[in-house]
Amino acid sequence: MTSRLHAHIGTIRQLEIFLAVYEGGSITAASEMLYLTQPTVSMQIKKLAETIDMPLYEQIGRKLVFTDAGHALATTAKDVLNSFIDLETKLSDLRGLKAGTLKIAVVTTSQYFIPHLLGPFCERYPAIDIQLKVANRQQVIDRLSAGMDDFYVFSHLPEAIEMETIEFLPNPLVAIAPQNHPLTAKKRIHLETISDAPFLMREKGSGTRFAIEEFMKEHQIQLNLKMTIESNEAIKHAVMSGLGISILSAHTLAFGGRAGLVELAIKPLPIKTHWYFAWLKGKQLSIIANTFLNYVQSEGKETLLSELRQEQLDV
Ligand code: PGA
Repeated sequence: MTSRLHAHIGTIRQLEIFLAVYEGGSITAASEMLYLTQPTVSMQIKKLAETIDMPLYEQIGRKLVFTDAGHALATTAKDVLNSFIDLETKLSDLRGLKAGTLKIAVVTTSQYFIPHLLGPFCERYPAIDIQLKVANRQQVIDRLSAGMDDFYVFSHLPEAIEMETIEFLPNPLVAIAPQNHPLTAKKRIHLETISDAPFLMREKGSGTRFAIEEFMKEHQIQLNLKMTIESNEAIKHAVMSGLGISILSAHTLAFGGRAGLVELAIKPLPIKTHWYFAWLKGKQLSIIANTFLNYVQSEGKETLLSELRQEQLDV
């Protein structure tokens, strides 16, 4: 069955512009993302809405609220644009080239080391472009189920999806306190001590939170939850400002991330978890994806480990 809608639905460029507005949430964000002027973006979106003959969004105050037509168009635009990326990769596979786009989606905590892995890889393979999506765990799981990317990075692997995985790096979770906290003077702190201090915790669904909860259950420790915060950086700042203590991935402290914070010598911390690269079972990896996987398993891992050790990260 063929659809005649495509003849009316606008150009690929218009879909790209619309998707940028949809994902960025505003005309301004889209124009910055695509290096276009705001009138150009508005004009293209207007043309697209005219050809579809339905409004794509409503402006409520400063916010764009997308209509059902807008949501449907965004889904199609993503599929169409991803098909072009896949085509490009397949064609370069057919030519036996290491060129095209590698798509990776990672959970927020891994943003502290993934760029340090991708930098040397891009230097080595300059014809490979990287599309990196950093999102919360549920969004990364959704992308994995939909098969949107070549690789995914998790610490807490989703249980319900059949995947291939490689264990990649240690992910020690450590306790942090502000510099002037009385516990920072102690050389050895018992785990029970932690239940007295106000504790700042990542949100439900976070892999960090899952690992902390499992660990505390195993050691029969009740935490004194003071606040739930959805971001590692916000937790670090809340700790710095004296709101409480927390446990976070030690990776959040590397590369200049220790300022204003002290790691507490609580035994038996750190909580030992790991980072994994995962991909859908049965998915055929492109030449580019295989090139990346080989790189990660060989020199990529070693280079990153030695960089992290220089950062005094115990990995
Ligand atoms: P985060 O970690 O959700 O706490 O960032 C993700 C994971 O552990 O998979």
